[in-house]
Amino acid sequence: MTTGATTHHTSDNPTPSAHHTSQTLLQHVELRLRTLLTTERERWTQVNPRAVVTIDALAHMINSGGKRIRPTYCLTGYLAAGGDPDNPAGATAAAAALEMLHASALIHDDVLDNSHQRRGQPTIHTQHTALHEQQAWQGEPRRFGEGVALLTGNLALVYSEQLMADAPTTVTPEWNTLRSELMIGQYMDVAAAAEFSADPQLSRWIALIKSGRYTIHRPLVIGASAANRADLAPAFEEYGEAIGEAFQLRDDLLDAVGDTADTGKPAGLDLSQHKMTLLLGWAMQRDEHIHTLITQPGHTTEEIRDRLVETGVPKDIEKHIANLVERGCKAITDAPIHPVWRSQLKSLAHQVAYRNT
Ligand code: IPE
Ligand code: IPE
Ligand code: MG
Ligand code: MG
Ligand code: MG
Repeated sequence: MTTGATTHHTSDNPTPSAHHTSQTLLQHVELRLRTLLTTERERWTQVNPRAVVTIDALAHMINSGGKRIRPTYCLTGYLAAGGDPDNPAGATAAAAALEMLHASALIHDDVLDNSHQRRGQPTIHTQHTALHEQQAWQGEPRRFGEGVALLTGNLALVYSEQLMADAPTTVTPEWNTLRSELMIGQYMDVAAAAEFSADPQLSRWIALIKSGRYTIHRPLVIGASAANRADLAPAFEEYGEAIGEAFQLRDDLLDAVGDTADTGKPAGLDLSQHKMTLLLGWAMQRDEHIHTLITQPGHTTEEIRDRLVETGVPKDIEKHIANLVERGCKAITDAPIHPVWRSQLKSLAHQVAYRNT
C-alpha cells in the first residue's frame, strides 16, 4: 500500500523510515507471489495447454493491481513487533499467503455478488462466460464461467496454504481463525441480503467478519506472531477491529457514491444486490420507502442512490468512520512498540479509512 508516511530522523527514531522498510519487504512479497505462479505455470504448460488456464486467470488478477493492504499490515505488525527486517522470510511468506487468500476471496466474491468488474478488468467468471459463448462450446456459458472462477479461487486457496507453510507455526491459530471466519462472514453477507431486513448491529458485525478482521486485525496479529510477540495481540485487536470496520464502511460508501474509474469495480452493485450494509440498514430505518424501491421492479440504481443520499445517512457513516479512526489510533497510543510504528499505524489507518479506491 502506498503509505505516504513521512520520514523522521530523531534520536528516538532509529529506523530510516518505517514506510521504506515495509515497502522493501513488500517487494519480497511480490516476488514470492510471482515466483510461485511462474513455477506452477512452467510445470503445467508442459502437461497440456489447457492446464494453465486457471493459473493464468489467477496471475492476471494478482498482477492487475490491488492496494496490498493485508500484506502491508502483516509486515507492519512484524516490524512493529521488533521482527528482524534482514531475516524476513517467515513474515513475507505469511504476507504473500494473505494476498493469495484475498485473491481467492475476491474471485469467489465476484461470483456471489454477480459482479462483472474487478481491479478495472472483467471478472474471471465474466471473461470465461464470454469465452464459452464466443467458442460456441457445449453446455451453459454461465455455468462454465462460474465453474472456472470457483476452480481458480480454490487454486488460490491452495497456493495460500502452500505459501503459509513457510511461515513460523506461531501464526497457525490466527491463520485458521482468519480463514474460517472469512467464509462464514461471506455466508452471513449473502444471507442478510436474501433476508433483507434492516439490522444495523448485524450489519456492523458482518462488515467485521467478512472483511475487517481478515484485512486488518488478523494480518497485524499474524505479523506480530511471526516475530513471537503474542503480547501485542490485544492492542492490535482493538486497533484492527476499529480500522477494519472503517475499511469496510468506506468500501460500502464507495460502492454507493464512489466512482468506478477510481475503484475499478461497478458502482451501485450493493444496492442492486440488496446488500444489507450498515449504510442501507440505517437508510431503511429512516425512510421506509427505500425498501420498496429496492424490492419492487422498475427503479433504477441512480434513483435509489439519490433517495439514500437524501436520508443523510452517508454523512452519518462518515462520522462513524471518523470515530472508528479515533478509537483505532487511541488503541495503539500505549502499545509497547517503537513510536515510529505507532505513527506508521496511524498513517495507515487514515489511508484505509479515507481512500477513494
Ligand atoms: C476489496 O478489498 C474487498 C473487500 C474486502 C472489501 P480491497 O479494497 O483491499 O481490494 P484490492 O486488493 O485493493 O483490490
Ligand atoms: C467482500 O466484500 C469481502 C470479501 C472479498 C471477502 P464486498 O463484496 O463488499 O467487496 P467488493 O466491494 O466486491 O470488493
Ligand atoms: Mg463484492
Ligand atoms: Mg461481497
Ligand atoms: Mg463492496
